[in-house]
Amino acid sequence: MIAHHDNPTETCRQTIQAAIDATKSAAERNRLGQFATPNALALDIARYVGSLIGQRKGGIRFADPSIGSGSFFSAALAVYGPKRIGSAVGVELDPAFAGAARDLWADAGLEVVQGDFSRVVANASCPPAPNLILANPPYVRHHHLNRADKERLQRLAFKMTGVEVNGLAGLYVYFVLLATAWMEDDGYAAWLIPSEFMDVNYGAALKRFLTDRVTLIRAHRFDPDDVQFGDALVSSVVLVFKKAPPQPDHKPQFTFGRTLDRPQACDRVSLDHLRASRK
Ligand SMILES: C[S@@+](CC[C@H](N)C(=O)[O-])C[C@H]1O[C@@H](n2cnc3c(N)ncnc32)[C@H](O)[C@@H]1O
Repeated sequence: MIAHHDNPTETCRQTIQAAIDATKSAAERNRLGQFATPNALALDIARYVGSLIGQRKGGIRFADPSIGSGSFFSAALAVYGPKRIGSAVGVELDPAFAGAARDLWADAGLEVVQGDFSRVVANASCPPAPNLILANPPYVRHHHLNRADKERLQRLAFKMTGVEVNGLAGLYVYFVLLATAWMEDDGYAAWLIPSEFMDVNYGAALKRFLTDRVTLIRAHRFDPDDVQFGDALVSSVVLVFKKAPPQPDHKPQFTFGRTLDRPQACDRVSLDHLRASRK
């Protein structure tokens, strides 16, 4: 369903998103992990992150490593306003979405790089490091990654972050690691990713990264029975973190259900407790 906004570009984006989606089969969308973030959720995420970052004019250097048609850039513009966004870059593999994002948002200052983020980020001509990443990376499962690609991703993740990623991990795990390596120190990131990594062995490396290498601020899990955003979120989590080593007494906030600003349940958990628990 297309929601109507005060912002005509956002209304246009939703129409274009639906038109591009309609040209693809479910199998094709699965292969590239093409399920867009509902704009209402992108706005919720941008608002929450906005409560953490400073107000400096031009201070935000935005990036989305898999921008699609730009739901998160649209939300960033709406929530922070154009004057606070000093630069913005989106990477996108699919030429149809890269072209759409460019047509929609270039006038608002978005630079779109068409290509595979995992190659763009490893390239010497990679765009300058952002200090804010809002992202919903492709949910491509490991068996859709060919062997050579998986080995390349594992080597690159190790080189850029020192993390050894299990071969069963999906593409989104590499996105989180590589994009965080790219991001400036003390930058903030929000990631909408599948929550499965919290419960399985192959998620261990990402869990350690979140407890030891960055300061995890918030993890919000959606209620699988809540269909407010359609089926897209049944097993998703929003992770918000700062790229800075955590203080030993830091306690990330874990919330569950409803929305980010009105969760159904809320708890704080110490890093020691998180490190010790397998799930
Ligand atoms: C889950 S969608 C999210 C799109 C957009 N960020 C949003 O929130 O609506 C993931 C996007 O990643 C793109 N994609 C898939 N593989 C990619 C890659 N290796 N590098 C960059 N983008 C990729 C897909 O074409 C798709 O547009």
